[in-house]
Amino acid sequence: MCKIISIHSYRGGTGKTNLTANLAAIIAAAGKRVGIVDTDVQNPGIPILFGFDETSIGYSLNDFLWSRCKISQANYDVTSVLEKPAKGSSISLIPASMKPADIGRVLREGYDVRLLARGFQDLLDELKLDYLFIDTHPGLNEEILLSITLSDVLLLILRPDQQDFQGTAVTVDLARKLKVPKMLLLVNKAIKSLDAEDLKQQLERTYGLPLAGILPWLEGVAELGSRGIFCLKYPEHPLSQMVEMVAHKLIS
Ligand SMILES: Nc1ncnc2c1ncn2[C@@H]1O[C@H](COP(=O)(O)OP(=O)(O)OP(=O)(O)O)[C@@H](O)[C@H]1O
Ligand SMILES: [Mg+2]
Repeated sequence: MCKIISIHSYRGGTGKTNLTANLAAIIAAAGKRVGIVDTDVQNPGIPILFGFDETSIGYSLNDFLWSRCKISQANYDVTSVLEKPAKGSSISLIPASMKPADIGRVLREGYDVRLLARGFQDLLDELKLDYLFIDTHPGLNEEILLSITLSDVLLLILRPDQQDFQGTAVTVDLARKLKVPKMLLLVNKAIKSLDAEDLKQQLERTYGLPLAGILPWLEGVAELGSRGIFCLKYPEHPLSQMVEMVAHKLIS
């Protein structure tokens, strides 16, 4: 049975897209069939980490949502990003369109979220995935609620910042009402001087959820600037090993 894993944060810029790409790649590299859907149609980002630009995407999730194609026609095999794939590894990416006109149309008109649900189901039926990752738009709207509702696992990313803490509380409350089977918190962009043990206790107590890790703000990630997948580029780096531990917690 495919597990649906949504990566979400209440506030923007926490690192959702980079973490989705890295976690999906780590899990795929271990021999799993992984799909990634870019549901952030208002602000698509994940295709860039896999080397796409607006001209190299043919059919996209937008075309499916506008009934111009089947979801399978918006599916791109990006397994080649893995240098050493195990037997059975695959990564399928369903990008959102990066064309300004398409983003403009989504912002003006929105789309029917029931179609998004059908798209997820078609993907699960057709691709025989082990894991489907959903990279989301920040905040809470109808399509986020849908993604959360369909998720087996919800990974909530937050920075060590009071505004993020407040927003995460709102999401956790809602996800509990929607009965998400498994929820984890992940802190990203922590500065060196932060007291990690104190923060862990504080967050686990406040939200009543396990903390999957505290990832540092790292110049190397900022320098890479979404031009690639950090953990594939630097597999021996301590950050890559920390992200690998998070991946294990997601799927265990
Ligand atoms: N641990 C980190 N250290 C330094 N920079 C980071 C780290 N994680 C992410 N970044 C940088 O933060 C920026 C935002 O990352 P990303 O696009 O993944 O966030 P996001 O949550 O998907 O944003 P949005 O809400 O806009 O979709 C990028 O420039 C990325 O390189
Ligand atoms: Mg993003």
